[in-house]
Amino acid sequence: MALRYENGALMMEDVALGTIAQAIGTPVYVYSKASITAAFGAYKAAFSCFPAAMICYAVKANTNQAVIGTLADLGAGADVVSEGELRRALKAHIPTSKIVYSGVAKRPAEMAFALKAGIFQFNVESEPELLALSKVASSLGLTANIALRVNPDVDAKTHAKIATGKAENKFGIPWKRVRDVYAEAARLPGIRIQGIAMHIGSQLLSLEPYDAAYAKLAEMVTALGHDGITLDTIDIGGGLGIPYDGGAAPDVSALAALAYKHLSHFGARLMLEPGRSLVGPCGALLSEVIYVKSGESRDFLIVDAAMNDLIRPAMYDAYHGIKPLKAEARADATYDVVGPVCETGDTFAVGRTVPELQPAEHIAFTHTGAYGAVMASTYNSRLLVPEVMIDGANFGVIRPRGSYDELIGTDTPWHNGEATRKAG
Ligand code: LLP
Repeated sequence: MALRYENGALMMEDVALGTIAQAIGTPVYVYSKASITAAFGAYKAAFSCFPAAMICYAVKANTNQAVIGTLADLGAGADVVSEGELRRALKAHIPTSKIVYSGVAKRPAEMAFALKAGIFQFNVESEPELLALSKVASSLGLTANIALRVNPDVDAKTHAKIATGKAENKFGIPWKRVRDVYAEAARLPGIRIQGIAMHIGSQLLSLEPYDAAYAKLAEMVTALGHDGITLDTIDIGGGLGIPYDGGAAPDVSALAALAYKHLSHFGARLMLEPGRSLVGPCGALLSEVIYVKSGESRDFLIVDAAMNDLIRPAMYDAYHGIKPLKAEARADATYDVVGPVCETGDTFAVGRTVPELQPAEHIAFTHTGAYGAVMASTYNSRLLVPEVMIDGANFGVIRPRGSYDELIGTDTPWHNGEATRKAG
């Protein structure tokens, strides 16, 4: 994690976060460039046991151009799941030769856009999608390099909403159909079989599901070899968890060692799609305490960030650390930490013991670099939360706070039976 106290101030790299809270206002996301760089370096070193492993950053975790661009400069590729994400990756100068397009329901127009861009690989998730891709590619006179994303029916032992590799999940080709669908792909025009892909879930804190899944994947690659299907790429997905509560989390090199054990002997190019573990620890969401409210049975710390800025606690019961921006000797207190949105679910933590806080003090929610700002909304007509990048002693706004003009001005009033936009 990129945070430490120095002379009583919570620091990210060489910037006191209180300075940002004052200068930009709160709520605001801050990211450490050094932390992203270190996380990518750890992946690169760990997977150097594979020749030319391709690390495709799952941009869904944090799509800010400054973040994608930082990873592009380090040599990362991108895993995208929509035309919007593809456009963001291209704009941040990720080479098309390192872009993989995942997702359960690519539409023909999105396929056409990606084919014309010349991306490296489509990870195809169903037979209808394969047929649609064949049709689009043929009509354009282009060839789609594909991997089939297979569903190994493995329990990732993570939150049900982010487990993707069980048979009952919507993702991937059912295990029993895989060989037939490859045979079908081999016959289809506009399709070139390039690889195989898998992603069993997100926030995995144990390597055991990977062990089981890679073993199954290896069996499948062998079986396909017997069917005469040779694969140039094996994409093992993303999903390595991060220690939100400071506990133990698996190490990238242990993940690489597992992949090596099961998959290296095929000689295929290894691909992976980490998101959270590259950018999660780099970020903090800064917020100001608005009120401390004594309820009948508990005390509420009401802060100016809300579920629209960081939805993970409401959506996945996720834990995020809470640190005051100023360290000083004081007693602890126990609060329910909540935001201003009119929903009981707008709760960041229940019964959390932290140093006693006063109104107007600032706090940081830790490990919020992944699936934080990207999942933000303007619910309750709150302005879209801004983002700041920290690089050594420098910081800069990489997305400004939304404005009320943007928030309201794009709506078009309805008058006399039609949408009416008055000039001026
Ligand atoms: N590849 C595919 C095909 C994926 O679906 C995902 C994440 C990843 C890679 C990256 O996984 P990661 O390394 O970040 O675990 N919003 C949720 C997480 C959703 C993950 C969806 N897929 C959260 O805040 O926990």
